Amino acid sequence: MASSPYITRTQKDLRGQISQWRGSGDRISFVPTMGALHEGHLTLVKLAREKAERVVVSIFVNPTQFAPGEDLDAYPRTEKSDIEKLAAEGVDLIYIPNPDSMYDVHHATTVKVGGVAKGLETDHRPTFFDGVALVVTKLFNRVQPDAAVFGEKDYQQLATIRRLVDDLDMPIQIIGAPIARDEFGLALSSRNQYFDKEGLAIARELNKVMFACAKEMEDGRNVDRAAEEAAKALIKAGFSNVDYVETRSKNSLTVLEGGVLNAPSRLLIAAHCKGVRLIDNCAVNVKE
Ligand code: PAF
Repeated sequence: MASSPYITRTQKDLRGQISQWRGSGDRISFVPTMGALHEGHLTLVKLAREKAERVVVSIFVNPTQFAPGEDLDAYPRTEKSDIEKLAAEGVDLIYIPNPDSMYDVHHATTVKVGGVAKGLETDHRPTFFDGVALVVTKLFNRVQPDAAVFGEKDYQQLATIRRLVDDLDMPIQIIGAPIARDEFGLALSSRNQYFDKEGLAIARELNKVMFACAKEMEDGRNVDRAAEEAAKALIKAGFSNVDYVETRSKNSLTVLEGGVLNAPSRLLIAAHCKGVRLIDNCAVNVKE
């Protein structure tokens, strides 16, 4: 049986434990989370375990990435069961920072990523990546990991963090973990627990529409036409609103011009179902 993780809420204890492990030559891998952990998070933890001797997971519902009116207060907080799940995975350290220690009353610094962080999510959640970039920078500075794992479900977030780390010369390997899905293909998300039975059935249509759309693009269909039809199919399936169905270049998320794809790309979707905003994405495997 795995030994219990070291749980700390203070930066001092965190630093003490990390420097002890570093002194013994251990590598540290890190999985930042907002808690409400599900199987998807645990796949990130498993990947982190493969990369280093020590695995650190943080649990922090980051207020700066929620806009006024978003679900910050309602965001599920399940600390006890999160700790149990992480302990069962053999996590070495769980860091649950005190919110006041993250953003004190004098906090005045922002971290803004351009390029990959423009468009898509930012068109609908203009301050989201500023909040993510800020908290991830702070957590990286506190944990000082060798590697950090992020899910491909938040594909634009992953691309934004890769950019941030490259641009600011942070010596951290960023690892993307494939999307974990339920048996109906729905991407696992902490927000799935908001759904009733009917909402869940509608939500599970998202991935079917997305994969069908990607297949059409792979077969040479005009990208804009395929995306328009996918958006219509989502509304027909019961989604109330579609924020975007968009295909971008695979790594830099550059906007694609010209209708038909000629390089491996990524199809990204955000849509609303029963008051819950869902995002998903998949590869569009076009030969160069
Ligand atoms: O993906 C998330 O859960 C969050 O955006 C992250 C990376 C933990 C930052 O708060």
